[in-house]
Amino acid sequence: MGLRYAQIILAVLLLISAIVGILLVVVPAKVMEAPAENMYGIVLDAGSSHTSMFIYKWPADKQNGTGIVSQHNECHVKGGGISSYAGIPGGAGKSLEACLNQAVKDIPKSRHHQTPLCLGATAGMRLLEEVNATESQRVIKEVENKLKSYPFKFKEAVILSGQAEGAHGWVTVNYLLENFVKYGFVGRWLNPGRETIGALDLGGASTQITFETSEKIENKSNLMELKLYGQNYRLYTQSFLCYGQDQFLRRLMAYLIKTQGIKPQLSHPCYPPNFQTHIKLGEDVFDSPCTKKYRPAQFNPEMDVTVVGTGDYQMCLNNVTKMFSFGNCSYSKCSFDGVFQPSVRGSFMAFSAYFFTHSYLNTLTNISITSPTQMEEAVKRVCSMDMSQMKAKTGKPEKYMKNVCAVANFVQVLLMKGYHFNETSFPSISFKEKAGGASVGWALGYMLSVSNTVPAESLRLVTALPLAVWAVVIFIFVALLLIAVGHLVMIYRNKRTKEDMV
Ligand SMILES: *[C@@H]1O[C@H](CO)[C@@H](O)[C@H](O)[C@H]1NC(C)=O
Ligand SMILES: *[C@@H]1O[C@H](CO)[C@@H](O)[C@H](O)[C@H]1NC(C)=O
Repeated sequence: MGLRYAQIILAVLLLISAIVGILLVVVPAKVMEAPAENMYGIVLDAGSSHTSMFIYKWPADKQNGTGIVSQHNECHVKGGGISSYAGIPGGAGKSLEACLNQAVKDIPKSRHHQTPLCLGATAGMRLLEEVNATESQRVIKEVENKLKSYPFKFKEAVILSGQAEGAHGWVTVNYLLENFVKYGFVGRWLNPGRETIGALDLGGASTQITFETSEKIENKSNLMELKLYGQNYRLYTQSFLCYGQDQFLRRLMAYLIKTQGIKPQLSHPCYPPNFQTHIKLGEDVFDSPCTKKYRPAQFNPEMDVTVVGTGDYQMCLNNVTKMFSFGNCSYSKCSFDGVFQPSVRGSFMAFSAYFFTHSYLNTLTNISITSPTQMEEAVKRVCSMDMSQMKAKTGKPEKYMKNVCAVANFVQVLLMKGYHFNETSFPSISFKEKAGGASVGWALGYMLSVSNTVPAESLRLVTALPLAVWAVVIFIFVALLLIAVGHLVMIYRNKRTKEDMV
């Protein structure tokens, strides 16, 4: 009796393991389309105040050279922008090491030699180029040599033109919003036929505006024609050097010094009431080509000036407005400083310093700014706040808070009086820092144009086991199944015959 039960249990176990075995082999062997391995790309965004490194990734089986690129990681280089190492040989290259070493660890080793690496420098280096072209070339050559010493596929280290910076920012924004192509539910890339949106970028030394237009572009230097995914795009793009927030603040300070005269104490209408700080005439104000216009013939660059805030909204606005020139347009219409601009149309995304200013105004006043009137109201309130109030509300240090009123007024004048946004068009501006997990800036757009040269790999077909082995394994399990079933049937028959005999 005991022997028969043991036989039954053995047969059942055999049956179960055969079925499980077959399922295990058959299910994963359904020729899975395994997500292909990732490809990577590295961009160093060498801005005027600091350098950021972005690592992007995309599936190796990407379509038509421009894949579904997303942000993998980022790293912020310690210290100033590469232009701040002018006259310090070795400094700029060395500053990039920590982030580049991180990239070496972050990217799988087998991909290193295929990973494009590029550095784009913007307005900080454009300014250095103006002051000393030899020195700016030396700095660029130095960072190029540093990048070449890493195991990646070095592409370029260049100073981007203002137009290129604007266009790459526009590409980034529209790429992240999937305005060019979209992965359809049928598993194919489709052109969504959507309107593109404009890009508003506010950096440290320059500011860019870029949007698609069908209007005549009267100054050819503002025209940028792009072909992406087989579609043609006609862009208006303009970059204003010295209109980034840091250079604007310097120009404002220089203008206040010019109007009040060189004295040990300067009153600043945009600083919080009674707030005090110290500046050096040279390094903090006049050591920049942007403030040349206001530079006194004679001054001591080492002179220390005490700046005292008065928190006067109207005075601040008046002085900020003086930083722009609204006359002298030789085209049918202009933004400012005699620069041609067609009417703004469609939606816009405003990023970098626009985003921070908008977010500070919102945190400090609880006003959700969606119209010029609301913005004016928020700026008015912020300009009369004192430093302790501002620090308490935002949790941010003095060095940022002291400039909120000035920069907010600057943004207000730039958008409304400069670019001519109004009650109707202002609500179509969205203020963003990130979209789809990636930082909004020009780096991704730049990466996309560089990664076009990376050859696409064919989709890898993956079965759990090589096909011949798979066939043998499946045969063994099927045989096992048949033996188990046969055995059970025999046991059952034996039992029946024995019972019949009783
Ligand atoms: C420019 O930089 C070079 C070093 O690359 C230096 O020798 C030269 O004096 C600088 N020129 C000016 C005008 O500052
Ligand atoms: C990709 O390229 C092929 C051939 O070059 C073209 O037929 C297809 O439309 C392209 N797909 C996209 C999304 O542009």
